[in-house]
Amino acid sequence: MRSAKDFFAPLAVGAPSPLREVPARPARMIHFFDPSNPKMAAKVPDMVGTVDVLLGNLEDAVKAENKEAARQGLVDVAQATDLGEHTQLWTRVNALDSPWCLDDLTTLVTEIGEKLDVVMVPKVQGPEDIHYVDRLLAQLEARAGLTRPVLVHAILETARGVANVEAIAGASPRMQGISLGPADLAADRRMKTTRVGGGHPGYLVRQDPEDGDVHGDRPTYQQDLWHYTIARMVDACAMHGIFPYYGPFGDIADVVACEDQFRNAFLLGCVGTWTLHPAQISIAKKVFSPSAEDVAHARRVQEAMGDGTGAVMLDGKMEDDASLKQCLVVLELADRLAA
Ligand code: GLV
Ligand code: MG
Repeated sequence: MRSAKDFFAPLAVGAPSPLREVPARPARMIHFFDPSNPKMAAKVPDMVGTVDVLLGNLEDAVKAENKEAARQGLVDVAQATDLGEHTQLWTRVNALDSPWCLDDLTTLVTEIGEKLDVVMVPKVQGPEDIHYVDRLLAQLEARAGLTRPVLVHAILETARGVANVEAIAGASPRMQGISLGPADLAADRRMKTTRVGGGHPGYLVRQDPEDGDVHGDRPTYQQDLWHYTIARMVDACAMHGIFPYYGPFGDIADVVACEDQFRNAFLLGCVGTWTLHPAQISIAKKVFSPSAEDVAHARRVQEAMGDGTGAVMLDGKMEDDASLKQCLVVLELADRLAA
């Protein structure tokens, strides 16, 4: 019987580099907190084990006057917290053209490098940005005597970044994944939205008139503003064996649209999302974990397909090598999340 492990070995291992030996678990939710806010930082120890990733955010949403406090707050919270086995520690540093990024990287790798799993780099324009971070991390790790490399995650939030997404995904063996940054991307593309992620009621298609009455009542269907970018990002990540993520969904109160947006991303291939508020954590956990029904169905197909070749009929539907591969995607994810 063909197993998920056989199918996924090349994808999971990626480029032949010792860095790939670092376990890069998919994370269903990357939970953001502001380390310059003492109330938020104080809640961090209680969140360990309840989220896959805790991310200390130093970039946008942290006021310029609080940048140093946020950096130091992250150092303090990381030093004081045992993150256990199931919660990774990430940071989002300031942009490479900001006055803070160099100090962010230098301080964090030096002070808490052994606890830091991933550095999220915002506003990545091309592979050159990743090369810069990669070399700088290598120097800082060597100086700090770290034996485990810090991985890199890029945010796709400029038109140039989208145009270069394949090169970004493959720019370094440190690449862990890429997230959609819909708010900055909308601004950079000069889209006419004013939201952080999610859809827009004006972006729709209208059903054709049935009786030639173009003014009559006709149903409309809202379209997904982010489909193109997510699909491109997913392809680039799959090509290079790294993980694609949805980004922020800013309308915290609209849990229904949040779940829809997360699910669209999951179905298109994303492994997780950002969560900006505790209310979004359970939504992310539910959406980005394969359901028990999907896992049971995938196992049925796997068993029915035997050596993985040929075709079988199950419940009136044809299953073959290609549908088995889709089922193995579900099983591989379920196995990784259970590990
Ligand atoms: C995230 O950083 C965004 O710009 O959407
Ligand atoms: Mg942004």
